[in-house]
Amino acid sequence: MLRTHTCGELNKKHINSEVTLSGWVNSRRDHGELIFIDIRDTYGLTQLVFDPKQNRAVHEKAHELKSEYVIQAKGVVRERPEGTENPKLPTGGVEILVKALDILNTSVTPPFELDDNLSLSDEIRLKYRYVDLRRPCMQKNIRIRHKINSVIRGFLEEKNFVEIETPFLTRSTPEGARDYLVPSRLNAGKFYALPQSPQLFKQILMVSGFDRYFQIVRCFRDEDLRKDRQPEFTQLDMEMSFVEEEDIFSVSEGLMKSIFKNVMGINIVTPFQRLKYKDAMERFGTDKPDTRFAMEIVNLSGILKDTKFNVFKNSLKKGGMIYAINAKGNAKVSHSKLDGLIGRAKECGAGGLAYFKCENGALTSNIDKFFDRSELDAIKEAAICEDGDLMLIVAEKRALALDVLATLRTEIARETKLIDDKKISLLWVTDFPLFKYNEEEKRWESEHHPFTACSEDDAKLLSGSDLGAIRARSYDLVINGTEIASGSIRIHDRRLQEKIFKVIGLDEKEAHRRFGFLIEAFKHGAPPHGGIAFGLDRFATIFTGSGTIRDVIAFPKTQKAVCPMTNAPSDVDGKQLKELHIRKTE
Ligand code: AMO
Repeated sequence: MLRTHTCGELNKKHINSEVTLSGWVNSRRDHGELIFIDIRDTYGLTQLVFDPKQNRAVHEKAHELKSEYVIQAKGVVRERPEGTENPKLPTGGVEILVKALDILNTSVTPPFELDDNLSLSDEIRLKYRYVDLRRPCMQKNIRIRHKINSVIRGFLEEKNFVEIETPFLTRSTPEGARDYLVPSRLNAGKFYALPQSPQLFKQILMVSGFDRYFQIVRCFRDEDLRKDRQPEFTQLDMEMSFVEEEDIFSVSEGLMKSIFKNVMGINIVTPFQRLKYKDAMERFGTDKPDTRFAMEIVNLSGILKDTKFNVFKNSLKKGGMIYAINAKGNAKVSHSKLDGLIGRAKECGAGGLAYFKCENGALTSNIDKFFDRSELDAIKEAAICEDGDLMLIVAEKRALALDVLATLRTEIARETKLIDDKKISLLWVTDFPLFKYNEEEKRWESEHHPFTACSEDDAKLLSGSDLGAIRARSYDLVINGTEIASGSIRIHDRRLQEKIFKVIGLDEKEAHRRFGFLIEAFKHGAPPHGGIAFGLDRFATIFTGSGTIRDVIAFPKTQKAVCPMTNAPSDVDGKQLKELHIRKTE
């Protein structure tokens, strides 16, 4: 037996037992004659003591030990002398007086210390990921992910869901990012696309009568990578037959409740808050608001419709809007901070940022002379300004003004520690528009994906020109300001599907070329169905309080989609390319 116990297991109950531990040398301290080694495995740390008076040969051997050597130690558990106990460790009351030591493997000097508080570059952490993953915080994160998956499986099994795998080598899916392509050796010049999601397969599984499907599945998207995006990421993908929005909400809320309870011991309140897309935008400037704090956006366009202040006047004249936020209690910010906020607003695309401070019951500013007393009072009332408050105002096209204020709102809240880290905001955003207009390509496209049903009341608008007003039967789950899940009730009526394809510029031929197999499957009795997909990496990031998505993925990629450990992507042999019928042009 290489071990009788793990390194996290021994305590005062084991005193005088003969034990064998195996693990890594976490640290070494020499105190006079005595050598102390903390031996580590994934379960914890135990202190080993090497005393020359007890065993000279073993003590001699302990001199050879260096960080990250793999060792086996046999000895007797004893109580630590008074004053040397470590109450922070479960094993901190005991130590092992070592009688036999075996070095199972040596290690080169580690590239960095295994300290949770070290700030290291991602490049170095990912290059030596096997060492990075030994750090306690990373071990914890990966284990939490495992636990989340296991709770998901248990919960969904109970609710009659069937876990079904779908292909990776497939055709392009409709999520709208760029595909990762895989050349086919057996079919010269043809390519598979790695799935951006199992969207079409899960809908087909509903046609096949499985009723409730789920999969914890890898998705691949070749898109610009941000803090919360990876080129390959994991979804909990679900689809259900004979359901409406409420059924999906109820299963999802139950699942979230079970994960929070069973993994973290946290009781979350259901049902979750709900907000229509339109209200989310108008009140928070974003479709993924963090509702842990207020600082809501206020529309001043009506109050200031006759403003004499030229910047505002011109903006309104051009069809723009005037929006504000009340950064409460910030009237005393320094000039440089204020300049910083103005700079940030400009970086986000605004022409500028106006401000008012509320002092002695009145609004003051470098521009206050352009406003009547009644206007100032009305602004003050609308934004519920009290002494000490700072109002920030943007006058721009609606979308831009909202976007700028949404950014300032979260950044100010973070900086001024307005967000209670212990709070969890779980929010459904519903009633998204079915289509969005692509200004560059001058065409309408699906906001979610083209298989999303629209509100029955709005279906008549499909033949009109007001396409932006059509509401989708789609929903997002937002946790603390991050989109965690997204889904919709799907179209199961072929005629409606064809209409939608037409609106987004897919004629019958093109629709058949891309999604013919789904259209064909739908001729065979498609039940009404709907589903949702949770971004599990994003969820685990929030859940573990990690700074980035990379901290909850064992082997993630950098912002440039590179793996510094394996050096993927890499060059390949000419022979391999030839077999794949590919010739490099440069
Ligand atoms: P969607 O494209 O919104 O929907 O994706 C669902 C969820 O997946 C997560 N996500 C990502 N996480 C990390 N890196 C990425 N690059 C990335 N892209 C998306 C997000 C997102 O909410 N088929 C539909 C779902 C459905 O309709 O059922 C879909 O994939 O958390």
